[in-house]
Amino acid sequence: MHVPTLIARKRDGEELNQQEIQSLIDDFVTGEVVDAQMASFAMAVYFKGMSPAETAALTFAMLNSGETFSFPNAHPPIVDKHSTGGIGDKVSLILAPLVACCGCWIPMVSGRGLGITGGTLDKMESIPGFRVDLSISRATEQLQEIGVVMMGQTDRFCPADKKLYALRDVTATVPSIPLITASIMSKKLAETLQRLVLDVKYGSGAFMKTIEEAHLLAESMIAVGKQMNVEVSVEMNPMEEPLGHAVGNALEVIEAIDCMRGNDSPDLMALVLSQAEKITHLPKEKLQAYLASGACWEKFCALIHAQGGNPDDLLLLSKIHQAPVIHEFRAEKSGTIHRVDAGACGQASLLLGAGRNKSTDAIDPRVGFDQIVKVGTCVNAGDLLMRIHATSPEQVLQAVSSISSAIEIRA
Ligand code: URA
Repeated sequence: MHVPTLIARKRDGEELNQQEIQSLIDDFVTGEVVDAQMASFAMAVYFKGMSPAETAALTFAMLNSGETFSFPNAHPPIVDKHSTGGIGDKVSLILAPLVACCGCWIPMVSGRGLGITGGTLDKMESIPGFRVDLSISRATEQLQEIGVVMMGQTDRFCPADKKLYALRDVTATVPSIPLITASIMSKKLAETLQRLVLDVKYGSGAFMKTIEEAHLLAESMIAVGKQMNVEVSVEMNPMEEPLGHAVGNALEVIEAIDCMRGNDSPDLMALVLSQAEKITHLPKEKLQAYLASGACWEKFCALIHAQGGNPDDLLLLSKIHQAPVIHEFRAEKSGTIHRVDAGACGQASLLLGAGRNKSTDAIDPRVGFDQIVKVGTCVNAGDLLMRIHATSPEQVLQAVSSISSAIEIRA
């Protein structure tokens, strides 16, 4: 294979065959195809796109670039979910133990936050001792024991995606539907699952700003799932206001724990239930019963214990991760909450240190927002709109200025 010719053909809009894509990815992983060539290829894909067959071939090549999960012959349904990322999206933290209660196995391989979107791994790591660096063999044992694993991508799990995503991140080639599809679906399909629910977000706090773009991504991912014989269901969910009442790593874990212990965040729980219903094939009433009986909470505690944490710490997280300054942000006038802009809240939480601008940045688990008011709520002047958890009074001032324009109250 002459790589410059292959890149030129893609640059000129030609369709590549499965063998060509497979060789490109294989040689990229070994280093024979160098970063400059792969970056040029990614840019060619960014401009010229890929056919469904090419996207499937790229996904297949990436998923087979490393280890995949394999299971004994008779096993329960293997299921998972993926969200394209939102602000305050802690659905996975509740959904994973919930579907394990239903007898499914959920080998959830998640990512870290980047930019305004948070990452499940960062949230889970705010639980002291919780380890996400499991090997696939340990993860498989844990599935047999408790039915649920929440882990990170190891160096041997989809290494082609790890390498390509890092390159896309610094070459302005992340927002390409075929590249996003292959990246997301390769990691999920390497879990060797049977059912997958995709939560494709659109709006100010999402990767895809319009519902039209979100539809294109959804269709592309469904097509790849079909080719691989995986039952893929999709939800398109708006991300105009933060999900639930908290944004920030420890603060989101605290909210998820509250939900598992009976305190509802209705918009959050609606997504948990609808997504769990799609992958467990059980009715909502049955799922609600696992929440109400405490079974889901017990499963979450078992998960924390299995991965090195102490379940006793879970109810102490607000003390363990207490931010130095907690500021109550209150309404200046009375009226109805018309807008709580998710994108602006995400940006403000990034500035507080809850997220990272580049993949090597550290995050602060203590900071963010909680008790966030919901759109449609009637408020009086002086009512609490949210609490800002920050490391200094200066940070609070900065957050107040961003949040003030994110919230709109109409008389
Ligand atoms: N998340 C991923 O895992 N990959 C992408 O390309 C975009 C978002």
